[in-house]
Amino acid sequence: MDNQRFGVGIAGLGLIARTHATAYARRGDKVRLVAVCDADPAVANSFADEFGARAYTDYREMIADPGVEAADLILPHFLHKEAALTVLDAGKHLLLEKPVAPNYPDSLAIYQRARASGKHFMVAENTRYIAAYRAIARLLAEGAIGEVIQVRTELRSNEKRHLSMPGNWRTRYELGGGLVLDTGAHSFYLLSWLLGEVAELRAVGRKVFPLANEIEDTAEVTGLLKSGAHFSCMFTSVSEAPHSERLELYGTKGVILMDQAQDPVVRVFGGDHDFAGRAVLEVQPALDAWRPGGWHFESVLAEVEDFVGSLADQREPEIDSRDAVYAIAVVDAAYRSIRSDQALIDLSHLTREDIQ
Ligand SMILES: NC(=O)c1ccc[n+]([C@@H]2O[C@H](COP(=O)([O-])OP(=O)(O)OC[C@H]3O[C@@H](n4cnc5c(N)ncnc54)[C@H](O)[C@@H]3O)[C@@H](O)[C@H]2O)c1
Repeated sequence: MDNQRFGVGIAGLGLIARTHATAYARRGDKVRLVAVCDADPAVANSFADEFGARAYTDYREMIADPGVEAADLILPHFLHKEAALTVLDAGKHLLLEKPVAPNYPDSLAIYQRARASGKHFMVAENTRYIAAYRAIARLLAEGAIGEVIQVRTELRSNEKRHLSMPGNWRTRYELGGGLVLDTGAHSFYLLSWLLGEVAELRAVGRKVFPLANEIEDTAEVTGLLKSGAHFSCMFTSVSEAPHSERLELYGTKGVILMDQAQDPVVRVFGGDHDFAGRAVLEVQPALDAWRPGGWHFESVLAEVEDFVGSLADQREPEIDSRDAVYAIAVVDAAYRSIRSDQALIDLSHLTREDIQ
């Protein structure tokens, strides 16, 4: 620790790493980015020069750097378990990008090792910090639409570039590729945060765009929540629209419609004669997801700043990482259904309290 500032190292310097680094710079009173690591030395060196950090190409060496007290792992999915356990076994704090790991047993193993280590651990699940979802969580708590009886989520991205790169980790299941894993981690976390656990589900995954890889580019997971509400989650990675998310909540007294590609982003309806609805004004429209001011950028900043604040103040972060582990149990169930001709998968036995 230097002047009460934690030393952080980031491993994996892809697209989202710059947003994490920006958040550390904004919390420069509490934290200092001391090291960065990428398997590509040119990427590691230029990032290190820009942020005044030491460059590494081997994450084990970065984790062993005595100045690194907390590691922020933004790595391909197949590396999550090994790298996370290396951080925890080195006695360091950990911020781990979603999905916790490519499957539930490995996700649970990381969570349990983190608990046993006594170190600060948080899953970087930006969904918890998206302004529109936070506003909706408040509306639900206030009973704005009564009891939710149906919910629909949609997550649109365009991964055609990665999915056409031979050898890219996103093109192979054994390297942690998979649309339901990548984006279901977000949507199933959202369902579990806002509405509780899943009772049962069915899933379909398809390839509708002709790219030479084994990964589904379109998927739909439907089922029943333990609350009795019907849910449906739609995913695409070949969307020719900006990365965006949609949520529809149908309640006994009203409806909430949210879409990051529309203005207003969130609208609440109070019956079948309420044609105008009510815009939720505290949620600013932000069509640009990736540059400053965009909803996605803001959510990742807020997430990393919460990690820093919780580490410095020795408090729990807002996110309960157990929910992010639970989301991977739902991902596993969805793939079981996809691989067994849309079989109905019973999840009623699993509770978040089982994740200890
Ligand atoms: N929360 C979000 O919205 C969000 C958005 C993007 C990515 N992510 C997550 O971030 C993680 C990384 O995804 P990405 O899209 O940045 O991937 P990416 O492939 O774009 O970047 C990964 C980086 O890791 C580097 N790398 C690969 N192997 C390495 C190794 N052994 N040691 C060090 N560096 C290595 C690569 O060179 C690359 O620069 C994933 O967990 C992903 O799900 C989350």
